[in-house]
Amino acid sequence: MNGFWAVSEVGGRVTAVPQGVWMRLKWLGRILWSIATRTEESKSYPDKAIAILWNRLPWVFRSWKVTQAIGRLIHWRVRRVHPRGGGNYTRFFRNLAQLELLRDVALEFPGGVPLKIASLGCSTGAELYSAVWMIRTARPEQEIQALGIDLSAACIQTAANGVYPLQATEVAGMSETSYERLFTRQEDTLSVQQWLKEGITWRVGDVSSLDLAAHFGLHHIVFANNFLFQMPPDRAEACLRNVARLVAPHGYLFVCGADLDVRTRTARQLGLIPVTARLEDIYIAEEGMLTAWPLSFWGLEPIDRKRQDWPARYTTVFRVPDGPRQVRPHGAVRGDRARAPRVALPPELNPNTDLAGLVERVAQDKLSRVVVPAAALTAWEERDPAGWAKVSAWLAVKEVTVILI
Ligand SMILES: C[S@@+](CC[C@H](N)C(=O)[O-])C[C@H]1O[C@@H](n2cnc3c(N)ncnc32)[C@H](O)[C@@H]1O
Repeated sequence: MNGFWAVSEVGGRVTAVPQGVWMRLKWLGRILWSIATRTEESKSYPDKAIAILWNRLPWVFRSWKVTQAIGRLIHWRVRRVHPRGGGNYTRFFRNLAQLELLRDVALEFPGGVPLKIASLGCSTGAELYSAVWMIRTARPEQEIQALGIDLSAACIQTAANGVYPLQATEVAGMSETSYERLFTRQEDTLSVQQWLKEGITWRVGDVSSLDLAAHFGLHHIVFANNFLFQMPPDRAEACLRNVARLVAPHGYLFVCGADLDVRTRTARQLGLIPVTARLEDIYIAEEGMLTAWPLSFWGLEPIDRKRQDWPARYTTVFRVPDGPRQVRPHGAVRGDRARAPRVALPPELNPNTDLAGLVERVAQDKLSRVVVPAAALTAWEERDPAGWAKVSAWLAVKEVTVILI
């Protein structure tokens, strides 16, 4: 046998098989054997096959309608089957366009009171320091009370220290002069300057925790970036509802890195108002996420302006309306809120047991609006999610608006 030919004996005859074909046959045999014996590796074959086909697709086909539809299907599957999770990756000025919008919002903020800003899932602090730098640089006289919360004690320790080795991902490609008065260089590290650290509180905590708003109070601006997609959709939705409660009326919620379906649906149900300024710049800032679509769960689909709901779907910034929140129940159909008389449920409504009572009362008095304390809704969602889902769907069919207070 020379290097190019593999020689095999089949039925007593000697046949020569080109080496490349022989290798492929062996590779195919291994795969078939792996599938037949259900090895751990075989579970990754569908993903590998899809990835090979998608990655070989010439770029010109990618924008085709049919290709995009296939991409959405692939992404839908990936979001269902891939285990969620993720790391602590962050960096200074990660999404510059979002920070510019923050600056614009802060410039319009009425003076005289401290501006309260929170970074949830803040990791090692780069996001919050960047935000504080942006506001203090644009509006030096504005007092800021800032809060950073993360699950990881190690991240919070690094954030509080504000010292980053030159090779750390947070400061990759930056120097002490990249942004005016941001860092001081000390040997091989960049340290955040003291004037930025003032007014910032760092806390270890779980932002899914239901006492979040009660514990930390309302904030004018809340960042909930790049951690919701690490959670399965039902947990992400509950968490998004929870963090939205931290935002004061007229305040802003910044949410990058969340499943688009979950974010759009939850924002609509909470009555959050999509902010469309700088929408596209903010959306495309995370180039890695755009290229990760559709093969990774954190991938971001390309903006489809033909969708009716495109501003609500692709914006990452929402404004919280004034006054009580209007909650559109799951799967709600369009109700006529303006005409409906406002009738409140009895204040003694027991959040643990009164789901049936709520249905009865709505049916009996033909209510078109109900006022529900946020704590009661949270308790229903927590203790009896299936029950609440049924009641919520029923309210939607009856076109009853739930007003959250
Ligand atoms: C990928 S980092 C994002 C950091 C920063 N927000 C950004 O966008 O650059 C996600 C962070 O969220 C934190 N995290 C995830 N789930 C959390 C939770 N339930 N409560 C608090 N922090 C959480 C993780 O520990 C991690 O540090």
